[in-house]
Amino acid sequence: MKYGYFDDKAREYVITRPDTPLPWINYLGSQEYFGLISNTSGGYSFYKDARLRRLTRYRYNNAPLDMGGRYIYMRDNASADFWSPSWMPVRRDVDEYTCRHGMGYTTIASKHSGIHVQTRTFVPLNETLEIWEVTVTNQRETPADLSLFSAIEFCLWDANDDATNFQRNYSIGQVEIVDEVIYHKTEYRERRDHFAYFACSEPLAGYDTQREIFLGAYRGWDSPLVVEKGQSGDSEAHGWQPIGSHHVQLSLKPGEHKKIIILLGYHENPKDDKFDPPGSQIVNKRTVKPIIAKYLNPANVEAAFVELFDSWTALLAKYQVVSPDEHVNRMVNIWNAYQCMVTFNMSRSASYFESGIGRGMGFRDSNQDLLGFVHMIPERARERILDLAATQLKSGGAFHQYQPLTKRGNNEVGTGFNDDPAWLVLGVAAYVKESGDWSILDAPVQYENEPGSETPLYEHLQRALQYTLDRRGPNNLPLIGRADWNDCLNLNCFSDTPGQSFQTTVGKDGTVAESVFIAGLFVLACKEMLGIVDGYKLNVLGDKPASFNVQPSTFYVNAAADMEKTVWAAGWDGEWFKRAYDDFGRPVGSKENAEGKIFIEPQGICILAGLGIDNGNAVKALDSVETYLATPHGIVLQNPAYTQYYLELGEISSYPPGYKENAGIFCHTNPWIMLAEAKAGRADKAFSYYKRICPSAREEISDVHRCEPYVYAQMIAGKDAPTHGEAKNSWLSGTAAWNYVAITQGILGIKPAYNGLEVAPMLPSDWSGCEVVRQFRGVRYEVTIKRSGPGNTVRLEVDGQPVAGNIIPLPVDGVKTVKVNVSVG
Ligand code: BGC
Ligand code: NOJ
Repeated sequence: MKYGYFDDKAREYVITRPDTPLPWINYLGSQEYFGLISNTSGGYSFYKDARLRRLTRYRYNNAPLDMGGRYIYMRDNASADFWSPSWMPVRRDVDEYTCRHGMGYTTIASKHSGIHVQTRTFVPLNETLEIWEVTVTNQRETPADLSLFSAIEFCLWDANDDATNFQRNYSIGQVEIVDEVIYHKTEYRERRDHFAYFACSEPLAGYDTQREIFLGAYRGWDSPLVVEKGQSGDSEAHGWQPIGSHHVQLSLKPGEHKKIIILLGYHENPKDDKFDPPGSQIVNKRTVKPIIAKYLNPANVEAAFVELFDSWTALLAKYQVVSPDEHVNRMVNIWNAYQCMVTFNMSRSASYFESGIGRGMGFRDSNQDLLGFVHMIPERARERILDLAATQLKSGGAFHQYQPLTKRGNNEVGTGFNDDPAWLVLGVAAYVKESGDWSILDAPVQYENEPGSETPLYEHLQRALQYTLDRRGPNNLPLIGRADWNDCLNLNCFSDTPGQSFQTTVGKDGTVAESVFIAGLFVLACKEMLGIVDGYKLNVLGDKPASFNVQPSTFYVNAAADMEKTVWAAGWDGEWFKRAYDDFGRPVGSKENAEGKIFIEPQGICILAGLGIDNGNAVKALDSVETYLATPHGIVLQNPAYTQYYLELGEISSYPPGYKENAGIFCHTNPWIMLAEAKAGRADKAFSYYKRICPSAREEISDVHRCEPYVYAQMIAGKDAPTHGEAKNSWLSGTAAWNYVAITQGILGIKPAYNGLEVAPMLPSDWSGCEVVRQFRGVRYEVTIKRSGPGNTVRLEVDGQPVAGNIIPLPVDGVKTVKVNVSVG
């Protein structure tokens, strides 16, 4: 069953009924000002940091689930009938409802008693504001006398404090109302230089800024008293709960329409020019007024929308495919790339499953997110890499997370996730391959954000790998620390006290429990490091002596070979790779275990690192994945699921069987198997796994899947769960980036290399070919791939000339388009 359809031409998903199984959301903004918006106009906005600069309030886990947002109420003044064009929060029936989620904007439209209302919401590029462009059309045969009320609830900036510190917060809320603008200035008089504003293009019949006056005592957002009466309270908030509401009167002739523009924005004033007149406590509005005036003008709004739309056309144009599969085309060309931008921006901070309070930018998460993003705006990936590396410790370890506003490591979560540092090598390699910018390796970067501690980024990479070598256990495998990629495999935690964090509680000294996953990741990172060593010497160092001891490439060749040997000795279980060793030195993810005999992660990462490709063990391990882990809804994380809590395993066994890390289909890991299958030469299997979790391919079963059909979710309930096939935690997941890599690089096979564009397609056997346009280092590559036989051997013809190997060399300067014919057989 479906709740809408894809409009690929418009690059939109069109939801055709408001009561989707869960709120189906979209993101607004892409650089500093962000918003979340659901198909019924729920959600909230923030500047840079969903915790520290929250503009509007949102109550998670509410009933109804999605309550609080950017609301418009319409009132028919003749009948006193009122409704929400976005259905929520009034929930009065609406006809012709559509919600179009597009790239950075959402348009919700509906009709009620002959009045059509459409609201397009977006954040203009390079601005710290959002625009609600409301068009009200009288489709009746008679004139209509209407009232429009807007409504938002201000958050008192720090979302955590806002949700907990009521004894203070009920006394500090402050606003100013000047012309048609409501200014929210709580705490501005003391240490804040920023305020929010809520402006309207029309003369106001009234306004409200005190929530309980607007709603009326004991009422909710579904039936505000002011809307019911048709008259604002003109309330001024002094403490309690500041809101913003405009009241606009509209008289529309039959067929007539009216456009109303509403702005919600964030603005900072210079510290020494906060008040106007100076010495007063009144917000200086001189700096913000021109911005407000600009965007209350419909022509400027349209121009800003076109600019946003065109910027997405340019971003998506970096990789476009025409293949025989509509799901591949849609996901690669539109939605998967779009989700990669969102995960790059948000990491795991703010979604409908992540409160924006607890988790900032993850170290391993961000490094992986940029694998799917780097081709869109390499310069932003560069900045992210440098920010991440600056939270690294001198030991090579890393803060697990940092706060986007301060860019400082998060002390509450701390360090000690022993896989973290190695991901930096993968992130940097991807960036340099994409951009050719070797200079990043020479960029001075601090450790722990400590001034004076700078070394070239290159040394951070050396230390990252040394970190693993320095921390090895009884089998010579890497020690796992607090957890590796699997945050719930907490082999040193031993927590038996309710409420303790599994990730930060330390029950053991950590000198025994080891991770085969980190071993595989280490081998992969060492192999990536080889290219970086050579390039660094050639392009950065030249004849200059380095300011630190640069390891020769043989160091990484040997380190990888040693680690591989260790994996074969202690990490191979006969039919698959083991997962780990616990604190008692017993294997995890082995045939010796009663539960959790086989895990997906080491099969994926070890094979990606090349283990088992030559000796047949890769295929053996992948066959085991198929036998024990694969389901029609995707591949589960491990099998059998843990049916009880194991003190020595940690959070993984705390989840009911089939959910999350306890044998859920943890989608992030599935593309590793797709890539491993591709590496092992089994294209059809790779593609079959791709299709099982592909959101668009699951659209038909939206009643089972329940999350948005246009983006990946972190998890689909596994075969041990009563709700097998049901997705959760949509949007913010490494699934987006890794699936993008799997389909574009592993299956379609077009990937950046240091010296050109590599072509290694592993197309499904029933495809006759496909066409890819890839923009790479300023050149447009038009690649036509044709199947000439059943194999996967590539023959390249570049601009009519045969080229040996499978790398399209960079063209001579000035050449902007290169035509490539690829025959695969
Ligand atoms: C979740 C993990 C997540 C971790 C973050 C756990 O509860 O299951 O997916 O990475 O929390 O701390
Ligand atoms: C989500 C976390 O953000 C990510 O870092 C982790 O790898 C997975 N959960 C698996 O536990």
